[in-house]
Amino acid sequence: MTQADTKPDTAPPAQLSWAARSRANDEIPEVEPISEAQLPLPYPINPEMVRADFPILSREIDGAPIIYLDSANTSQKPYAVIDKIAQHYRTHNANVARAMHVLGAEATEAFEGARAKVAAFIGASRSEEVVFTKNASEALNLCAHSLGARLGPGDEIVVSVMEHHSNIVPWQMLCERTGAVLRWFDITEEGRLDIAAAKREGLINEKTKIVSVTWVSNVLGTVNPVRKIAEWAHAHGAIVVLDGSQGVPQMLTRVKDLGVDLMAFTGHKMAGPTGIGVLWGRYDLLADMPPFLGGGEMIEIVRMTGSTYAPPPHRFEAGTPPIAQAAGLGAAVDYLARIGMGSLARHEREITAYALEGLKTLPGLTILGPTEPIDRGGAISFKLDDIHPHDVSQLMDSRLIAVRGGHHCARPLHERMGIQSSTRASFYLYTTRADIDALIDGLEHTISFFRGR
Ligand SMILES: Cc1ncc(COP(=O)(O)O)c(C=O)c1O
Repeated sequence: MTQADTKPDTAPPAQLSWAARSRANDEIPEVEPISEAQLPLPYPINPEMVRADFPILSREIDGAPIIYLDSANTSQKPYAVIDKIAQHYRTHNANVARAMHVLGAEATEAFEGARAKVAAFIGASRSEEVVFTKNASEALNLCAHSLGARLGPGDEIVVSVMEHHSNIVPWQMLCERTGAVLRWFDITEEGRLDIAAAKREGLINEKTKIVSVTWVSNVLGTVNPVRKIAEWAHAHGAIVVLDGSQGVPQMLTRVKDLGVDLMAFTGHKMAGPTGIGVLWGRYDLLADMPPFLGGGEMIEIVRMTGSTYAPPPHRFEAGTPPIAQAAGLGAAVDYLARIGMGSLARHEREITAYALEGLKTLPGLTILGPTEPIDRGGAISFKLDDIHPHDVSQLMDSRLIAVRGGHHCARPLHERMGIQSSTRASFYLYTTRADIDALIDGLEHTISFFRGR
């Protein structure tokens, strides 16, 4: 699908008044700031057309289509990505950096070219700020391990209760190693970070060395006020790590606007392949961080007496990297950029609003997290009175509706909410209203099946 296939459904914004220009020459003209409401809405996505780009979405089982509502877990992949990976292996396969031949040069170009594409996609200042990892979990472990060299007993690391285990466990391991203390942002009843309570108790203070929070909750869908948190942390000299795993796939990302120091995300949730993740970091900070894993390609000189290390990003990329996966991720960001991240975010907001309205009509269903589509991403978790999430997902699966039941790798959050698990439906650029209608029908059927017994 190209943007030419769709039309804007709103008139362009009114011209701003430039009457101030007619003032005396020595006066600085005052221009009213543009509010978000004045900006044109991005082009809408036509998900039916987008679906044609994703071969798996046309798969049927016994003549019935699969309704895929598990994109926060992993997204489906377009032809552009699948073909790029196959083409890489068919025509350019070789190892990077070390092979002095034409295929080696092509593979290196594919790998480093993908780095440049990812850097542009997130608004990084330079390609060298992008480190390729195996996934977001490895990127967060890299942060914890490498920043850990700065920590000692009594230092504090702040995370939030809504974190994915990948943004909890590495910090717990670091605390065990260093004697640092892990402290937690709590959430409000609505499922937002309780910034007011954190301020009252001085959660971030002069002992805080690292603050690591998620941009978007994979359970509640909450979009967190990252910039505000980063400013607070920086005022106390702390380093801010962002888990962008759910944010980067669905929002236009400009790392400088987020104001964080490091950001982890994962390729497979943004139409890219599995096996590749990204750590973005401010270059000066990366250059000041010790390596995580040792091995080939991350070194400058190896002697029997010791080694020196390459500058970033290669310092953090020991061994043969995920080359074909990087080429695939490059194709994914090209694809998403062609669709337009503004359009994708708009679609996510509209389909989430539609789903929230439908879910609110179901008896005994409680939405976990914000119930309005404001500062909220496209993952909706809920509980159904008396019906276990595993039963819900099993019954939904019998209708080929893929939702996720469990704690979604966020056990502390579920514990905080007083439940063991929940059911989650999550959406992406290819999710249609028909998918949501099927979800609501399936849940109605589930409710009457279990309650009607
Ligand atoms: C918020 C968040 N952080 C981190 C991760 C971990 O991603 P990966 O398994 O690709 O490392 C996930 C995956 O579900 C996630 O949703």
